[in-house]
Amino acid sequence: MLKLALFGDPIEHSLSPAIHRRFGQQTGIELDYSAIRANTSDFGPRFAAFLVAGGQGANLTVPLKHEGLGVCQQVDHSARAARAVNTLVKRDDGWHGHNTDGTGLMLDLQRLQLHPGGKRILVIGAGGAVAGILGPMLAMHPALVVILNRTGSRAQTLAEKFARRGVVIGGGFDQAADLEGFDLLIQATSSGHGEALPPLDRKWLKEEAVGYDLNYGPAHRGFARWCAHHCLPGHDGLGMLVGQAALAFEIWTGRQPDMEPVLADVRAAQATP
Ligand code: ATR
Repeated sequence: MLKLALFGDPIEHSLSPAIHRRFGQQTGIELDYSAIRANTSDFGPRFAAFLVAGGQGANLTVPLKHEGLGVCQQVDHSARAARAVNTLVKRDDGWHGHNTDGTGLMLDLQRLQLHPGGKRILVIGAGGAVAGILGPMLAMHPALVVILNRTGSRAQTLAEKFARRGVVIGGGFDQAADLEGFDLLIQATSSGHGEALPPLDRKWLKEEAVGYDLNYGPAHRGFARWCAHHCLPGHDGLGMLVGQAALAFEIWTGRQPDMEPVLADVRAAQATP
């Protein structure tokens, strides 16, 4: 039995245990995936207790993704670039840390036939989520990535950090007046949790552009409404959630689960009040 756990706070409503249970059923791998509430002050002892109990792999969510770096003997380039770990696996030489968030998004964009290669991509937000997606996104060779953020300096700093990997520019909304011709709009702020939206402008986008929100559920509603109002397909981030989980499952088991039926289940469960 593979012993796995999700650490974070809050985790009560996390969909990850159900997703991994479904992946286990699909692949015939027996696993015990529990959700352990932990924050930055008690993560150390809780993780140590999990290890003593035979823990072999873990996921980390808010507020522990940065904390995860401290328990790893090795981290992959995605986790290093994002300064955040969302997946831990125990190997012979200790814990290895990965960040599957960005590759999870790329997996979902491919599923949606939204290949970033050669595209002009506008990313709204410059927090931890964006730091996680920029590396995998630039590896797909988009023509241009522009990051816009409420705090322009944060977007600028992030763009400078990734400048060696592709054409990426960052700034504030006050610098957005002349933007146009984008194929893909990625909503990566946490503003949806307060039902607010950043100041988006349809004229930045091509007629046939597509919107993608890293959020899902109630936090996606504002962006969904904006996209519908501006006649733009607007996807939520449930596919990214299942995609990052599928990549974590593969790291733990070496098996690639089929994300489509699990995504359909999760979406159906979300729609049921
Ligand atoms: P995450 O890990 O989810 O990216 P974060 O690092 O706290 O979380 O970043 C949150 C992002 O949402 C930031 O880009 C933040 O903008 P600031 O850098 O200016 O704080 C953005 N954000 C949050 N609420 C917002 C709002 N109401 N309007 C616009 N942007 C908002």
